[in-house]
Amino acid sequence: MKAAFIGAFGAPDVITLGERDLRAPGAAEVSVRVETASVNPLDVKILAGYLQQVFPIEFPYVPGTDFSGVIDAVGAEVTQFKPGDRVFGRTSPNAGGAFAQRLVVSAEDVCLMPSAMSAEQAAALPTAFGTAQQALFDVGRLQRGQRVLIHAAAGGVGSMAVQLAHHAGAHVVATASGKNVDLVKSLGADEVIDYRQQDFAALRDIDLVLDTVGQDTLARSWGVLRAGGRIATLVDFSIRSTATHVGESVFFASATPFLAQAVQMFQQGQLQVITDAIFPLDEARSALEKVATGHARGKVLIRMSP
Ligand SMILES: NC(=O)c1ccc[n+]([C@@H]2O[C@H](COP(=O)([O-])OP(=O)(O)OC[C@H]3O[C@@H](n4cnc5c(N)ncnc54)[C@H](OP(=O)(O)O)[C@@H]3O)[C@@H](O)[C@H]2O)c1
Repeated sequence: MKAAFIGAFGAPDVITLGERDLRAPGAAEVSVRVETASVNPLDVKILAGYLQQVFPIEFPYVPGTDFSGVIDAVGAEVTQFKPGDRVFGRTSPNAGGAFAQRLVVSAEDVCLMPSAMSAEQAAALPTAFGTAQQALFDVGRLQRGQRVLIHAAAGGVGSMAVQLAHHAGAHVVATASGKNVDLVKSLGADEVIDYRQQDFAALRDIDLVLDTVGQDTLARSWGVLRAGGRIATLVDFSIRSTATHVGESVFFASATPFLAQAVQMFQQGQLQVITDAIFPLDEARSALEKVATGHARGKVLIRMSP
């Protein structure tokens, strides 16, 4: 099978394209003919070698965690899926494997894809939807009627978070650059701040900040919180609570608990998937470079067949 892989850490240009063998699925695994994969900033960070402590990988490594496709074989103990089922899911970052024509994954990490969902829509969902859900509700404890500030609302996680928070009945304030303001409003934001023109730090009485940016953006976010308000950050793992505010990091470990909910919201017309660009597998490097800019609009996808 054709796959994109790396033999050493580096920038996206370390990606090589070539033929790789794929093992047969183990007893509790399935093999999937991948149709589409989505790219996450995590893939870029793993390639760069920034996350060796958290996600140790072995070379050659095929990047990519989020995928959709069709099952072509199941292990002996797998009863919930059969060859021909359309599925989507997320592999563990240590294993990777999605930027390839086929992958082997635990049956626990996949979910049936409804017929109304395209392979592109499904591949975009696992990390972005699951992280947004975990950050807003598990870590952020967002409640109906509360005010939430969502940074980088035009990004993969942000575009999902705006929709989830709006659906939950929160008042959504979001940051995006000018070209993305209308998009973010269309996803359900009540107020959008063009972060290049206006200072979000003038906001007050925010119950929850979803920080997807870190550094100066995170530092200036404390001042917008009401007493007792919370920050859930995706990017700063050394965050600490203060005497008056709660600060917690989000570590997204598994999409599995969130996939069925994504399907349900999609089927009820409550979830839009925003796609920035779709690249063929041969151009996986360009897909990773696009995400590495930090300015993708929604999700960047890789399609396995041209
Ligand atoms: N902890 C975890 O478990 C976890 C899980 C998922 C993701 N993450 C991390 O969370 C971060 C976001 O992930 P993602 O997939 O959403 O990234 P992404 O899709 O690459 O985000 C791109 C978006 O960020 C916006 N942006 C860039 N700088 C900004 C700023 N200063 N203020 C507001 N918006 C800004 C860009 O908007 P403009 O083009 O309009 O500037 C763009 O739309 C990444 O660092 C990722 O690794 C962590």
